[in-house]
Formats: sequence, structure tokens, C-alpha cells
Amino acid sequence: MKRVAVIGAGAMGHGIAQVAAMAGYDTRLTDSDPEAVAAGLDRIRKNLAGAVTRGKLTQQSAEAAIARVVPVADLDLAAREADLVIEAILEDLVVKQSLFRQLDSLVRDDAILATNTSSLSVTRIAEATKLPARVVGMHFFNPVHIMKLVELISHHAVDPAAIEAVRDVAKKMGKTPIVVRDSPGFASSRLGVLLGLEAMRMLEEGVASAADIDAAMELGYGHPMGPLRVSDLVGLDVRLKIADHLHHELGEQKFEPPRILRDKVTRGELGKKTGKGFYEWA
Ligand code: NAI
Repeated sequence: MKRVAVIGAGAMGHGIAQVAAMAGYDTRLTDSDPEAVAAGLDRIRKNLAGAVTRGKLTQQSAEAAIARVVPVADLDLAAREADLVIEAILEDLVVKQSLFRQLDSLVRDDAILATNTSSLSVTRIAEATKLPARVVGMHFFNPVHIMKLVELISHHAVDPAAIEAVRDVAKKMGKTPIVVRDSPGFASSRLGVLLGLEAMRMLEEGVASAADIDAAMELGYGHPMGPLRVSDLVGLDVRLKIADHLHHELGEQKFEPPRILRDKVTRGELGKKTGKGFYEWA
């Protein structure tokens, strides 16, 4: 495995390209919007410069990493010679299926195709291709260059060798991979969202204040951040969408979004990005 192509240069794609380049892979970065590629490269440069300033990386390694990221305008050129393609485009099943269909005909038969979807069915994305065995989920976390977890998503048609190959890549990127069967919310969102929803229901019932509910998890269970603060950071609109999706897919009452969450989203209190959610953000 030598060449990685990252499709989509937004919040996740630029970070994935950065960790791929840092791991030594020849990395091609592309996006349907050429400005997004330029912006993504700029973010990688800034992240690497920050790491140099903090003494985490030498100037030489930073320069070598940035030199390994090649911006490419054309999907064909980006993907054609890749050993691994990682998709980080719009979270839309039809759009992703169409891209995977295209990729399937562009890449070599032994190349692996990975999706960074956070909620869609990897099985259905794989089914859009002629070789579903080489399609896997590679779910990175935001910000990619900092967060250690990568969820590798397997499905009934996957080739176990493809999972092993991306496990190796994730490790080379300095990540800790876990393998999860394709199912709604995978492991991270299913557990994380449920904890957040229960914390919201407790706040609604007046069990404790937001800060005290969070402190219970931070100090009592060693979570780096309580579930309500995490929800504010992720964005309450995003959380609501995921909860609705899980409620629909899993059909379980426990995933039904509580009133307090819907009301906050209706009022535009979306968390940190709007200055107010369960907390006030200056
Ligand atoms: P983003 O909106 O920041 O970036 C997406 C990029 O994809 C944009 O630059 C857009 O121009 C490009 N794009 C859209 N359609 C395209 C196509 N057909 N071909 C090529 N480029 C295309 O989105 P973000 O946040 O980076 O999310 C990307 C994927 O990663 C989504 O599937 C999302 O669910 C997933 N994800 C997001 C996380 C987050 O915290 N933002 C965390 C984990 C996964």
C-alpha cells in the first residue's frame, strides 16, 4: 500500500490527507470544488506549522509531509493509481453511491475503496459497486489529526483482507482502529448519542444542572468531557439528525430525541457554533 487518494477536501478530507501524508503515503487530494482543495491544503499547512511550533514535529518532517500531498482537480487522475481511496464527501447515500460506482470503474481491481460516512449504510454503498468485497468503512473523528479512533466498518460481503489492510493503514496513521459490523450508528454514535440523550432527559426532569450531569461523567467515570458539553460542541442540530436517524433505523424508544433537544434546535440554540446550547459559549 503506497498511494492513497482522498476524495473530498473539507473538514474531514483535509485531515485524512494530512494523516495519510504523515504516515508516508503518496497522497492525492481532490474535491468537486477546486477552492475546497486549495483551502484543504492550506489547513494542512497550518496544522503542520502548528505542530512544528509546539515542538511535536520537525520542520523537515512537516515539509516532507506537505510535499506528499498532491492536489488534483480531476477524480480520474486522483484515483486511477491509488491503492486505497478514502471518500469524505457529502453525507448523502445517492451521491456516495454514484461516486463509488465511478471509482469502481476507475481503480485497479485490487484497490480498496473506503467511505468515511458517519451514519450511512456501508453495505448499501458497497452494493453500488461491482466488487463490494473491497469496500469498507473507515470512520475517522474530527479533528482527524488529533482524534485517535478509527472505526473500521465491515459488512456481510467484505473481504477480511480488505479490513486487515485498512487496519494496517490506520495504525500507520497513528490511530487506534476498532472493527464494527455495519449497523446504524456503528459503535461510537450509537453509544455516544444515547448517553447524550439520557443526559438531556435528566436535565429536562430537573435531576441536576447541565454542569453537574457532565461532572458526574467527567469525574465519576473519567470521561474527558461530559455528554452535554460534547453535544454542544458537535452541534445540537447534528445530534438531533443522528438521533432521529437511529430512532428510525433501530426503532427503539430510547433513541427518541427529547423535547428539550428539539426546542433548542427550533430556537437556533445549536451549541458552540451559535454561542448557546446547553451552555453559554462566549
Ligand atoms: P465538508 O462539507 O466539510 O466537506 C465535504 C467536501 O466534499 C466538500 O468540500 C464538497 O465540495 C466535497 N464534495 C461534495 N460532493 C462531492 C463529490 N461528488 N465529489 C467530490 N467532492 C465532493 O464535510 P465533512 O464534515 O468533511 O464530512 C465529509 C464526510 O465525513 C461525511 O460523510 C460526514 O458524514 C463524514 N464525517 C464527518 C465528521 C465531522 O465531524 N464533520 C466526523 C466523521 C465523519
